[in-house]
Formats: sequence, C-alpha cells, structure tokens
Amino acid sequence: METDFLPLNGTDHVEFYVGNAKQASLYYQYCFGFELVAYAGPETGVRDRASYVLQQHKIRFVLTTSLVPNSEISQHVHKHGDGVKVLALWVDDATRSFQETLLRGAVAVHEPKKISDEHGEVVLSSIKTYGDTIHTFVERKNYKGAFLPGYKAIKNNLKVTPIGLKHVDHCVGNVELGRMNEWVKFYEDVMGFKLLITFDDKDISTEYSSLMSKVVSNGNGYIKFPINEPAQGKKKSQIEEYLDFYHGAGVQHIAIATDDIIHTVGELRARGVEFLRVPDVYYEDVKERVGHISEDWKELQKLNILIDRDEEGYLLQIFSKPLQDRPTLFFEIIERNGAKSFGKGNFKALFESIEREQALRGNL
Ligand code: FE2
Repeated sequence: METDFLPLNGTDHVEFYVGNAKQASLYYQYCFGFELVAYAGPETGVRDRASYVLQQHKIRFVLTTSLVPNSEISQHVHKHGDGVKVLALWVDDATRSFQETLLRGAVAVHEPKKISDEHGEVVLSSIKTYGDTIHTFVERKNYKGAFLPGYKAIKNNLKVTPIGLKHVDHCVGNVELGRMNEWVKFYEDVMGFKLLITFDDKDISTEYSSLMSKVVSNGNGYIKFPINEPAQGKKKSQIEEYLDFYHGAGVQHIAIATDDIIHTVGELRARGVEFLRVPDVYYEDVKERVGHISEDWKELQKLNILIDRDEEGYLLQIFSKPLQDRPTLFFEIIERNGAKSFGKGNFKALFESIEREQALRGNL
C-alpha cells in the first residue's frame, strides 16, 4: 500500500483577515456561539496586528486585522474585503509536510519555523494555494497553551451559549474559469489528495447560470476541498459574482458540522443569522426523493433546512447569506446521517435561491 506522504490530522484552524477583528469577534461569539479563547496584539507585544481566537468544540477561527496601513493583511483586506487567508492543517511534522509538498511543486510562503513560549513549542510552515489563500502546517504535539506561542489565553466577557457546531466538514474554493482542473491536479500531485466526486454543468445548472465542481480529499478523508469554477450560462454565475467581488480566487464557503441541525439553525436564526430561502414547493417533492428520516418535516420546513440522500444515508444542510457586505464568503451548516456526499439533489433549488439574491444585488 502507498504510504501517505502528507498525513493530516484535521483542520487546525481557519484564519480570516478582516477590517475590524474586535467587532467581528463579537459577531462570531454572539451569533455563532464561539468562545473567545486567546488573543494577540499590542498588549501581548505584537505591534502590527490584532488576532482573536474563537473556539467551539474542534473548530478554531482566528480573526486578524492590521494595525498599520501597508501590511500584507491590510492589502489583503483592501483587495478582497473580509475573507479567509489561511486554511491551517494539523500535522505531526510541519517540516516534513513542507519538504514533501515543495518537492512535488508547492510554492513556499513560510519556511518551517519553531516558535515557543512557557507552554511549549510549535512548528509552522506554509505553502500557497489558490488566489492569495495559503495552507499552514501546524505541528503542536509539544504545545499545551491556548493556541500558539505569542497568544495569551483570555476569558470571555460575553456569556456565550454554544449552539452545537462540532468541526469543519469541508472548505470550498472558487477559482477562475478554466482553472478548476489545475487546482485539482495541485491537490492530487502536491498534497496527495484523491478526486472524490465530479459535478459538471448538467448537475449544477439552472435556467440562467451554472458551475462545475470537483471534490478532492486527503487519505483519511478528514480534509475535503471542493473546487468550483464558473460555467457558461445565460447570465452571470454565482461563482463569477464571487470572483468579481473577491477580486480573484478564494474560499467560497466553510461547511460546519452539527449533530442537531434543528437546534443549531433555530439558535442561529434567533440570533440574527440569515439563510438562503428555498420556496415551500421544495418540500412538496423532497419527501418522495429522500424517503424516511428521523426529523420532523414540519420543523425542517419551518427552518428552511434542505435534505438529500445518497447510497449511504441522508444529510441535512442549509446555507447562510454572505457573512460580510461583499457577496463572497458564507457558511454551510450540515448534519450527516450516514451520507458522505454534498447535497447534489439540492443544487438546483439552492442555485435558484442564490440567483434571486444575486438579482436583488443587480449582479445577475
Ligand atoms: Fe458545501
């Protein structure tokens, strides 16, 4: 059997570059039930940035803002708006991960570097992926602190109530027209991922627009990266709208797993998070398509949660509206009941819903 040259233990964290990390951190705490666990900034000796680390079960989000005008962070925010900069991967050996991927064609961003404080040491290294997004390999087996050396553990001032968000299920990238296969090849050749599924424009098209998507996954299946590119349609595809507003390729959505989507989405809605809406007619056909499920159909319809089935089981999912003013990054909330797929049966209903929103923004 082939040995995996890039064993990955899971998603370590996702770092967002944002315009105002202090305010954004309250949004994720209040609306999404994340707990503020660590901070780095002027008070901890960091002069040019401030970072807030938010956690819920296995999910760690880092919100970073620049304190100076011409940094890599401020330029990223200037060009892309708030968005994902780092998809960090948890590894046992960040030096080897860097060497193995570089050997296979990765472009280096940060050479392996050991950093330490009184809680131990961490090794970090980074390589480029699509757009200005990077992958950072995080080796933390000799570290016991709150996040990384340089960060100070802090207590939450806000009393947050977690809403059952468990782990990152998948992270989706939007890339430029004609470049999907190039990035799929990058994940195959450079990172040893395998192509899991292909969706062509017949699977994902509406009257107006379409897209193509391929899903790549690492050896143990913990990391799944679908890659989308726009496809020709009568009007502007949602991927093109993203690329126009993000000014290039980047992370389109992060899917977060829950064990109880009815509870999670009920809480999110009560706290002001907005979701894409599918029309009630969706629920007339879905029962036949999906068959028996344990959840109450009325409850699902009330919360506008989507349902799909594959050979292995079913899944429940819902998509938020964009998380910032630009129509770029959004979240998916997903509950898997055996199903390992991505909700293909919902694509059409979903994309019609996205197009209604695009039309409201004057971008269709
Ligand atoms: Fe997704």
